Parts: sequence; C-alpha cells; structure tokens
Amino acid sequence: SPLRIALVPGDGIGKEVIPAAQRVMEAVAPGKFTFVTLDAGFELFKKTGVALPEATVEKMKECDGALFGAVSSPTHKVEGYSSPIVALRKALDLYANVRPVYTAGPAKDGKLGKHGVTPLGKPIDMVIVRENTECLYVKRERLFQDSAGEKIAYADRQISERASRRIGRLAFNLAVTRGRVREEKKATGAPIYWTSKPRVTIVHKSNVLSITDGLFRETVRAVQSEERSFADVDVNEQIVDSMVYRLFRDPENFDVLVAPNLYGDIISDGAAALVGSLGLIPSANVGDSFCMGEPVHGSAPDIEGKGIANPIASVRSAALLLEHLGLVPESVKLISAVDAVLNTDLLTPDLGGKSTTKEVTDAIIKEL
Ligand code: NAI
Ligand code: MG
Repeated sequence: SPLRIALVPGDGIGKEVIPAAQRVMEAVAPGKFTFVTLDAGFELFKKTGVALPEATVEKMKECDGALFGAVSSPTHKVEGYSSPIVALRKALDLYANVRPVYTAGPAKDGKLGKHGVTPLGKPIDMVIVRENTECLYVKRERLFQDSAGEKIAYADRQISERASRRIGRLAFNLAVTRGRVREEKKATGAPIYWTSKPRVTIVHKSNVLSITDGLFRETVRAVQSEERSFADVDVNEQIVDSMVYRLFRDPENFDVLVAPNLYGDIISDGAAALVGSLGLIPSANVGDSFCMGEPVHGSAPDIEGKGIANPIASVRSAALLLEHLGLVPESVKLISAVDAVLNTDLLTPDLGGKSTTKEVTDAIIKEL
C-alpha cells in the first residue's frame, strides 16, 4: 500500500515550494505515495486564533513521514502565538535537525559548474546535525525591572546529558554511514569530495559556558566509546565563533558537525551562503521513528506570491525523506536530477537566473 505523506505548506513561499516538492515525489516514485495536506502557520492563526491545530498533529502521527514548508513568525510577542514548527518537533519528538550543505555534483562533461564550488573555489560536502529540543529554545524567558526601574530580561538554557547523548549518537552514526557511502561511490568511480576518514566536529563554547556547553561537549565525546564502528571516526571540536570563521575560510575541512540548537541554527544559515542560496538547503527533522523534511529557509515574504521561490531546498528535503523511508535509489536519483539542473542556466533569481519555481520544477522532473 502507498506510503502516507503529510504536507504542511504553512505560510508565504511554503505554499509554493511544497506543492513543487510533491510533484517531484510523484514523478520519482509514481503511485508510491498518498498525500494529505495539513494546516498550520501564522496566516491560520490570524484567521482562527490557532497556529497548530490538534488535528494537524494527530493526522501527521498517522502518516509515514512529512514535509513542512515554512511558517512566518512575528519578531514581537503575539499573545497566544507560538511557532508551529517548534511545537511539531516536540510533539513528534524529532530531536535532530539534519542539514546537509553540499555543492552540486559535476555536469555531464565531468566538470564542476558554477554551483559545484564555494566562493573560494572548492567543492564541499558537510552535514550539520543540530540538536532540536533544548538549548535556549526551551523558551523560558522572563522580564523584570531592576531597582532603577530599567528592564532586564533573562532566558534559561537547558542542556541535558540525555539529549546530548542521542544527538551525539546520531552524529556518529551519520559519519559512519557517510563514510560507507563514500567507499561505495569510490568503487563506482563517482566523484567524492571528502577523502579523509569520517570526522565529527563538536561545536560549542565551553571556554565560556563551561557547565552547559561543557556538558554537551563531554557527553558527545563519550559517545565514541559506545560502539566499535565509532572508533574510526576522527573526533575534533571547534568553538562556535571560530567555527563561523572556518566555515567561510576552509569549509572543505568539515564532514559532520554537531551542535546545540542555537549554534546549529546560526551556522547552518551561514553555511547556506557557501553554496549560493538558502533556497538550496534542505533539512530533515528526525526522531527514532519519524522524519519530517523541511527546507531551512523561512516564508520569504519579500518574494512571496511572485512564483520565483527556489524549489530545490524543498525537493532536496523530499530526497532526505525518501532516504528515511528506505527509498534510497529514488532519493539518489532525485539528488542527481537536482545537480543536473544546477549545472544549467535554468535557475531562479536567488541563484542569478530568470526562471520560475514551475520551470525549475519541470526541469527537475524532466531530468528524472
Ligand atoms: P527567509 O529564509 O524567509 O528569507 C531570507 C532571504 O532568503 C530572503 O531574502 C528570501 O527571499 C531568501 N530566500 C529564502 N528562501 C528562498 C527560496 N526558496 N528561494 C529564493 N529565495 C529565498 O528568512 P527571514 O526573512 O529571516 O524570515 C522570514 C519569515 O520566515 C519570518 O517570519 C521567520 O520567522 C520565518 N522563518 C521560518 C522558518 C521555518 O518555518 N522553519 C525558518 C526561518 C524563518
Ligand atoms: Mg533558522
């Protein structure tokens, strides 16, 4: 029987890129899926007072996987509103946000195109593993007045051994799997851009936040002794500020990065600049038994409704979902089709092209 996929387009360009990803999924595996489109978002909140209906959570739980677009969130506090994506991650216990950042593969002539290298001229292939459930995103904020009557705000930051251990395990497992996939690729003569042994880089700031970030760092490090296969992983660490520096200077030196929630959020948007656009970066929110693909970008109000949003981040998120569903050949096929399109001039304006969401989606489907 077909796999049930929940689609949550959300707000803004989410409504444009998620249907595009749906078309591509239907094209890569015809008849394999049934889709159910579910409501969430700020627009919905303005209409109904509810940003994430109970029914959306319940229906999603009955599905085999999901794709989430983007939701708008006001930067000021709106009474009664809280971000549906944060709530969904919690409701489904999607404790990791896995964000691959890679330059496009070579064109048919074997040469790397414009999007095959970073601005410094090298291909990259890294994955940022972001802890998804705690850190400052526990949202325990308080506002007081000091004795002089001036405002002072506090936020709690939670780092637990349990959450750090499970994100650490995911990062190590991913490093090992990626190493295996590279070996298989090497055997077929396919190009690989990471030639060292698998590496996990722990991102933290434990020189200042020795208790919280110290616990994260220690706990992730300790994971290495849990399994034999982890012994071959090269573990190193990078303090978050110099991590940003190195991300721009020598991003080709990173394989798997693992970070607490806030640092992971920031470095992955930063990493997006390396490959040309936020519109290219996918993510997978994963738990022990469920995966929700989600482009890293937001609702992009500046281009909403123009039909020019880049669908690639969502299409690649669909590829991550396919992989989690065990449809590995389909996932690989999808990723190559996207690479092929990135080697043409058929691109949306964020990548310097003139094409529309529909034209790029059509081109990907044609490649399939
Ligand atoms: P954004 O990611 O929406 O946009 C940043 C810039 O990148 C804009 O110039 C936008 O046009 C461009 N961009 C993003 N995705 C693109 C795509 N697929 N194709 C072409 N260009 C693209 O971030 P911003 O502007 O900070 O946030 C806008 C809204 O989105 C806010 O309300 C924010 O709260 C929300 N947001 C939601 C997220 C989510 O649902 N997971 C994540 C990030 C932001
Ligand atoms: Mg973000």
